[in-house]
Amino acid sequence: MTSTLSRPAGTAAPSHHLPTRLRPADLLRLTDQTASDVLDGRHDDVLPEYWDREKRWATRLHFDDDVDVWLISWTPDESTDLHDHAGSLGALTVLSGALTEYRWTGSQLRARTLEEGDQASFPLGWVHDVVRSSSRVVTSEPTLSVHAYSPPLTAMSYYEVTDSRSLKRTKTVLTDGGAA
Ligand SMILES: [Fe+2]
Repeated sequence: MTSTLSRPAGTAAPSHHLPTRLRPADLLRLTDQTASDVLDGRHDDVLPEYWDREKRWATRLHFDDDVDVWLISWTPDESTDLHDHAGSLGALTVLSGALTEYRWTGSQLRARTLEEGDQASFPLGWVHDVVRSSSRVVTSEPTLSVHAYSPPLTAMSYYEVTDSRSLKRTKTVLTDGGAA
């Protein structure tokens, strides 16, 4: 992977209170570049022989002290459940297909669709649920997205929405096995 992490001259330094020297824009650029690399076949060695239609799949394409990058495939009936990314910033680029994200606004879940080529970034405290877009269920193409986290993802907390329209944290898990 080519380095895309250097900050252009004249751009603002990251905020000192964040646990990373990277900004959301850096992560967006990195997921975009990595998505291009996947499409160009540079990660073919880690792709599965076939795309499982029922089970979500993820593999880590890059890892260093600052950032980790994941390729995720999405299936129709598997959502991530409502979660945060602990102390990491995040970003994604949709490589193929489409995703629907349900983001917690503070009082409700707001949906948006992210289609092929679309990007999103997640500041600290971002809580969302992500699922493969139902409008694309019939396609034979896999729904794929590239995600980057900085500092590298180590944990995610999960939530449920209470009757009084607040969030209740239900569990925190270490993320050795995957990202979302
Ligand atoms: Fe997420």
